[in-house]
Amino acid sequence: MTVIPVDIAGRPYEVRIGSGLLADVAGQCGTRLRKPHVPIVTDANVHAAWGAVVEASLRAAGKQALWRILPPGEATKSWEHLSATVDWLLGHEVERGDHILALGGGVIGDLTGFAAAILKRGCHFIQLPTTLLAQVDSSVGGKTAINTPAGKNLVGAFHQPALVLADLDALATLPARELASGYAEVVKYGLIDDPAFFAWCEAHGRAVLAGDANARAHAVATSVAAKARIVAQDEFETTGMRALLNLGHTFGHALEAETGFSNRLLHGEGVALGMVLAARFSARRGLMGEAEAERIAAHIASVGLPADVRALGLNVSGGQLAAHMLHDKKVDAGRLAFLLMRGIGQTFLTKDVSLAEVSDFLADELKG
Ligand code: NAD
Ligand code: GLY
Repeated sequence: MTVIPVDIAGRPYEVRIGSGLLADVAGQCGTRLRKPHVPIVTDANVHAAWGAVVEASLRAAGKQALWRILPPGEATKSWEHLSATVDWLLGHEVERGDHILALGGGVIGDLTGFAAAILKRGCHFIQLPTTLLAQVDSSVGGKTAINTPAGKNLVGAFHQPALVLADLDALATLPARELASGYAEVVKYGLIDDPAFFAWCEAHGRAVLAGDANARAHAVATSVAAKARIVAQDEFETTGMRALLNLGHTFGHALEAETGFSNRLLHGEGVALGMVLAARFSARRGLMGEAEAERIAAHIASVGLPADVRALGLNVSGGQLAAHMLHDKKVDAGRLAFLLMRGIGQTFLTKDVSLAEVSDFLADELKG
């Protein structure tokens, strides 16, 4: 097992990465589970795959799982499910000193974390991430949220978990498309500030997706260490440091919005294509070489992730696609904030990008 500390001032916690953590969830959580009944929020897919394993561990420790099983999918991050889940927790008389378990991907982690943030003005929660995306990104750092009709993740709170248990075994039951989608966030850490890790991804990315245990452990641990370092320096995204984690997300978000936040384009797929677009846009501005931008595109394509916006078959203009960016949370006093690259591992934040410039670029990408 690898243990990565997240050194948030006053509220440090551990991310434990390894095999068999869900089968030993009671032992891993230890005295944090202080009552005989343990509230666990999950979704139906994860419950079917891992519910019995978690329950057996709790039972062996003399505890009983109280399940809240939500529908799988992004639509679950809603006011309706948040409010019903908070009522359910209140109904079970969960106290501030108790720990709520979040067993699932980013949807369950984000919703449960937000419920924990507002329940009795804040109680503890433990992340049990079961997707690659959740293990390398969403379970660490304390961003919690739901979606509203106005957009994704627009209502939420910063609320750090008390512990994260990333069980690599959970990835065995994850659909291949979800695995690849999460892998985009792994590549992101290489592109942000670690060119050696990007080169490692080029050499071992396919092994990660194929199930190589050592490659998966290295990919998750390196990603979590990078995220922990960034989050510890800029917990509330005020200095620009944490914003680097949004590489590919502005373009990706526009594509997700255009495809209706649906199965047509998963979040990680949008991020993958978004990182390629950020690289090509950076090359067009003369910030990085075209060959380097195409090296990024080639790696993304080599693992089956989208690297060409034309393949989405969108019936949209560059201007319409760019207009979605105005709803990005990073818009500040009407100015877009963009993450561009001076090279692989040299990502930086700029506000010096106009919507017209992005529209022209996207129009060219859509034409090919
Ligand atoms: P998800 O939670 O919807 O999970 C993807 C699918 O996989 C679901 O159908 C789920 O039921 C299924 N699944 C999960 N684990 C499984 C397993 N082990 N075996 C079989 N099936 C399994 O999606 P996700 O990609 O994990 O998360 C996406 C969400 O994360 C988005 O809402 C996004 O906004 C959020 N996010 C949050 C942060 C953050 O910092 N808080 C960062 C990135 C993304
Ligand atoms: N996933 C971006 C962040 O945690 O800041």
